[in-house]
Amino acid sequence: MKILIAGMGSIGSMLAAYLSRNNEVYCLGRGQHIEKIRDRGYLILRKLFQNTEERVYLSNLYASISELSGKEFDCIFICVKAYDLKSMLREIADKSIKSPCFLFIQNGLGISEVAREFLKDANIVRAITNNGANIPDPGVVNHAGLGETYVGGLYGDEKDYYSKLIAKELNKVGLPAKHVENIKQYIFLKLGINAVINPLTAILGVKNKGIVELQWLRPIIKKICIEIMEVAKKEGVDLSNLEEIVLEVARKTRENKSSMLQDIIKGKRTEIDYINGAIVRLGRELNVKTPFNELIYYLVKAREESFTKIISK
Ligand SMILES: NC(=O)c1ccc[n+]([C@@H]2O[C@H](COP(=O)([O-])OP(=O)(O)OC[C@H]3O[C@@H](n4cnc5c(N)ncnc54)[C@H](OP(=O)(O)O)[C@@H]3O)[C@@H](O)[C@H]2O)c1
Repeated sequence: MKILIAGMGSIGSMLAAYLSRNNEVYCLGRGQHIEKIRDRGYLILRKLFQNTEERVYLSNLYASISELSGKEFDCIFICVKAYDLKSMLREIADKSIKSPCFLFIQNGLGISEVAREFLKDANIVRAITNNGANIPDPGVVNHAGLGETYVGGLYGDEKDYYSKLIAKELNKVGLPAKHVENIKQYIFLKLGINAVINPLTAILGVKNKGIVELQWLRPIIKKICIEIMEVAKKEGVDLSNLEEIVLEVARKTRENKSSMLQDIIKGKRTEIDYINGAIVRLGRELNVKTPFNELIYYLVKAREESFTKIISK
């Protein structure tokens, strides 16, 4: 397949490294990371789960979208953070970059609405991935955890065709993946897990084990989960054992720092608007009260705001 990876961050770089084994991969990034790969000619892929490191030679590297004007792809993988989706999709449209299929890998809610707004005629496919990736230094990507990716079609006459094709391609290059009919179930489950682990670890500055070990958190975890279960139920999704699942995931990933905690440590914007923020918005629409999610949302937003204000002196 001829694939454009739009957004060469952690997950985009990891996907580019694997997919380039069997596909014609184009990479669009920005900043030092893409420059380093361009200068050296290769990306370093470290698989932390098997202690290996390899050079992945990538030739179609772009640091400016203008260089891709008018190009066509079999599929465009949108790998930016949720809050950068609109600007990326606008740039793609402005530069007449075309594809019959767009894949969205973001966590959270509200992604398909943005996709729908910008991509009227394309097939839209969603992926929920349990892989973990990060960039420790420019030009290097850590594949920190190998997990399954669930791929499902959202819109378009050929959405299932593309979803199956992408799942097959991912499997071929060594990334376990499954086409699923009910991707909404996977979106909500991941949302529920992230809505507890991410903000609580970020606010408290603790590793994932804090979710399991801090007993004072338990009533809050329970309330967040109940609210999400009620919102999900109104959307036709059953998340009846969410609380146990969240605790189990936190137990299994006990030594990890959640992505939101890492963002807060780096003083970066988080994806909270698409996680707890989205639950609050959907709750309002569906007439479900979500006070705990709302409080958590405001706390994380305040934490983000604190990066730009001198308040500790
Ligand atoms: N990392 C993971 O393990 C993981 C796992 C599951 C799901 N996800 C999801 O995948 C999405 C991406 O996460 P990530 O961790 O890969 O984030 P990330 O490391 O921040 O990668 C996003 C990349 O896109 C770049 N970008 C944004 N707008 C761009 C534009 N207009 N043109 C070119 N490049 C642009 C960003 O550049 P700047 O840095 O300059 O902004 C950044 O390099 C998130 O929604 C996340 O929830 C990630």
